[in-house]
Amino acid sequence: MKISSTALGALCAIRLAVTETSAESLNAMMKAKGKLYFGNIVDTNTLAEPNATEILKTEFGMFTPEYSMKWNFIQASQGKFTFDNSDKVVDWARKNDKQIRGHTLVWHQNIPDWVDAITDKASLTKVIENHIGKVVGRYRGRVYAWDVVNEVFNENGTFRNSVFHRVLGQDFIPLAFEAAHKADPNARLYINEYNLDFPGPKIDAMMNLIQSLQSKNVSIHGIGTQSHLTSNKTVDTVPAQLKRLASTKLDVAITELDIRLKRPVDDEKLAKQKQEYELVTRACLEINNCVGVSMWGVSDKDSWIPSTLPEFDAPLLWNKKFERKVAYKGVVGVLGGEPG
Ligand SMILES: *[C@@H]1O[C@H](CO)[C@@H](O)[C@H](O)[C@H]1NC(C)=O
Ligand SMILES: *[C@@H]1O[C@H](CO)[C@@H](O)[C@H](O)[C@H]1NC(C)=O
Ligand SMILES: *[C@@H]1O[C@H](CO)[C@@H](O)[C@H](O)[C@H]1NC(C)=O
Ligand SMILES: *[C@@H]1O[C@H](CO)[C@@H](O)[C@H](O)[C@H]1NC(C)=O
Repeated sequence: MKISSTALGALCAIRLAVTETSAESLNAMMKAKGKLYFGNIVDTNTLAEPNATEILKTEFGMFTPEYSMKWNFIQASQGKFTFDNSDKVVDWARKNDKQIRGHTLVWHQNIPDWVDAITDKASLTKVIENHIGKVVGRYRGRVYAWDVVNEVFNENGTFRNSVFHRVLGQDFIPLAFEAAHKADPNARLYINEYNLDFPGPKIDAMMNLIQSLQSKNVSIHGIGTQSHLTSNKTVDTVPAQLKRLASTKLDVAITELDIRLKRPVDDEKLAKQKQEYELVTRACLEINNCVGVSMWGVSDKDSWIPSTLPEFDAPLLWNKKFERKVAYKGVVGVLGGEPG
């Protein structure tokens, strides 16, 4: 094929741009290390924010919808399914060559009152199966993984008091996994939980539950450890606990990573946070069945932390002006990039 020098110049420019982008992309660097992705959250609110969207598109490859797939957003009244926002997110991902972690099917929060009011086993079983069948079925083949059940444990390792556990006992868990598996046999199915970052009754309970589900051949493929971490407090124990979760032979993923700093934030705390992000990233790299890491947000400006835990701030990799923090450079360094 004959090609003009102008066209060739343009082609080279495109090639260069692509190379530059991928060299800077956390997702590309993570994949070069043999992992599947570096991910983040996205939703219609984020997509309305151009600075965040640009970073998401450039840096990340796997996306968890923050709100739009939760039960009360999709089936607020019984039998009426609304997929407008979740469709937007899934379509955005498709258009931009990104993947989706679906989130979340059975969770004690963000459920409508009509679900919470159910008191008999047969009705609740049907309602769970129908909800999961419709949601997972709609996105069959378009969602890489689902957080099938979310946050089922109390801190002391007992099962949380939810409508699901009150009515069905722990049977709601295998029930949910089998319904999801039936609706999309190729999706990776996860149990997702927080505070699995340090030893204690909660991670013990998780290990016991996994063993019990595995002994019953339940279709579960992964453990999501949220890792909403507190700097200088809950980070050092992460690598050992991640190894412990991985010893189940299931996939493990860090699903909602942020590392919050106690106010007031100063350079010393930001430097500590950098080391902590390095530690967590390295922990995933060093475990074969750790498939990837997902952040819970782009900019400190948009994090859930300051409004929910006001004594903390600045948990993410970009500051409030969307500038890369030293922690970002730390992660890039661990991934073998130019820490710059
Ligand atoms: C465990 O924690 C839950 C929630 O805080 C509480 O209701 C329950 O009584 C505790 N159970 C035990 C055995 O400590
Ligand atoms: C689980 O699967 C294994 C291997 O296919 C089989 O030997 C075992 O009987 C199954 N256990 C149950 C409880 O179904
Ligand atoms: C970490 O916590 C200790 C006290 O537990 C404190 O002395 C130290 O200044 C903290 N370091 C940072 C960077 O926050
Ligand atoms: C987002 O980017 C625009 C320029 O595209 C800038 O004017 C604006 O200040 C940025 N927003 C924030 C919060 O940094």
